[in-house]
Amino acid sequence: MLCLLAPKCQKTSQNATGLRRVVFRHWDTSRAVASLRLEIGHSDSRGNAPSTRSRSPAASIGRLMRHHGRANNRIGVRLRAKLLDAFVDPVWSAAIAIPIVAKEAPPAEANRITPSLQYSIGFGRAYLMKRSLEQNFERAVAMSKNTTVLVTGAGGFIGHHLVTSLVKRGYVVRGVDIKVPEYQPSDAHEFVIADLRNYGECLKATKDIDEVYHLAADMGGIGYISSSHANIAINNTLINAHTLHAARENGVKRFLFSSSACVYPQYLQREPDVVPLREDDAFPADPEEGYGLEKLYMEKLCQYFTEDWSFATRVVRFHNVYGPLGSYDGGREKAPAAICRKVALLADNSEIEIWGDGKQTRSFMVVDDCVEGIYRIMRSDYSAPLNLGTDELVSVDELVDIIAKIAGKSLIKRHDLSRPQGVRGRNSDNSRLRSVLGWEPKTPLREGLAPTYRWIEDRVSIPLRRPTEIAAE
Ligand SMILES: NC(=O)c1ccc[n+]([C@@H]2O[C@H](COP(=O)([O-])OP(=O)(O)OC[C@H]3O[C@@H](n4cnc5c(N)ncnc54)[C@H](O)[C@@H]3O)[C@@H](O)[C@H]2O)c1
Repeated sequence: MLCLLAPKCQKTSQNATGLRRVVFRHWDTSRAVASLRLEIGHSDSRGNAPSTRSRSPAASIGRLMRHHGRANNRIGVRLRAKLLDAFVDPVWSAAIAIPIVAKEAPPAEANRITPSLQYSIGFGRAYLMKRSLEQNFERAVAMSKNTTVLVTGAGGFIGHHLVTSLVKRGYVVRGVDIKVPEYQPSDAHEFVIADLRNYGECLKATKDIDEVYHLAADMGGIGYISSSHANIAINNTLINAHTLHAARENGVKRFLFSSSACVYPQYLQREPDVVPLREDDAFPADPEEGYGLEKLYMEKLCQYFTEDWSFATRVVRFHNVYGPLGSYDGGREKAPAAICRKVALLADNSEIEIWGDGKQTRSFMVVDDCVEGIYRIMRSDYSAPLNLGTDELVSVDELVDIIAKIAGKSLIKRHDLSRPQGVRGRNSDNSRLRSVLGWEPKTPLREGLAPTYRWIEDRVSIPLRRPTEIAAE
């Protein structure tokens, strides 16, 4: 690793990839430039670097960059690469990391850094535009080999998929839940049954853990969350506050909280042709009673932990998630799974019951995109809330039509207006997600629903017993 400015007295922190972030204390211009020139093959190994005309490190580096940095020859290319390598943390962009390095220097030195860093920042931006974020992920994957992560809610729908994906990426994964996954064994290296409402259990669950993906929650479809305010609010308050607190107590390095689009104000969701919701719309607050209000409070708790105690948190607002291996019966299932089940059980040309008038709109995200987004957000350096969903808005009637078409059935809709239908319209504005990640969920609804429907169809047509039922015998 190149030490760009070769300080006499430098403080470095080494991360798992072996990259160092240098905090500058003193300057030693000649050594810095010699070292830089050696690295780019512009001086011999005895350090016979051409002398610099100025004692100022900013001017020296600046001159070097002016002479070679923009050139498209071997020196220019290697110089840019080295400059960036010196500053880019696997998960930080150069443009962000460099000012942070500058900020960490004592004020007098920080002032002197600025001119030379301007070059680096410029190159950093260009570099990041040219290279896709995937390369950061490759580094993150290398880092994953030594990283132990906790997935709470690992027995649930999204948590189970997330465990599988993190294991594939090379992480050492501990899963925690009050139950094992219902439809498939977990891939977690360790699976712990624990009730996270209990602080002692949270302390045990987060011990020796580097990163927490916190998905455990008392939740369900609209029928459940609109009729169980007290249960949901008390359970999730205890689970969330205790898990967050215990994670900090145990020195966890990153904590991701799975929030929900239910935090958004109901007054913005009164029409089916809703304006997509932006992150800043959450206030003035008027969230979904119980479930949404608690999520919003936990988002703030994460913010306070970050502001007051520098505890690194990520907050993800999921919009509706669907896919195989999720609840499809029992009352906790969401609309796509419930409709898939109904369609699978109905004969062609029969009547399907739909909750509400069918005109209410939502966007739906397939679980694979959700898991990818969760990972990217965890690896980003963005701690404020971020939407994670698609912006493909459909009405519930349209959702039924898509599923019926996948099933090859023609169905007659019967709307039950006495059933809860939630807000009239909800869609995700992904502008911030795109600008932070350069990525957004893209799987079209029809494409994601096909395997989901097939999985539910299999489940309802062949009465397989679940692992938990077998274990209970
Ligand atoms: N699925 C969606 O569409 C959606 C939308 C918005 C937000 N979310 C959020 O994403 C997260 C995961 O959702 P999901 O769809 O996988 O839900 P899920 O219900 O399938 O999973 C949640 C898991 O948390 C576990 N849990 C509940 N209480 C617990 C406790 N006291 N201790 C330990 N574990 C406990 C449950 O057993 C369950 O397995 C939740 O926080 C949820 O609020 C999901």
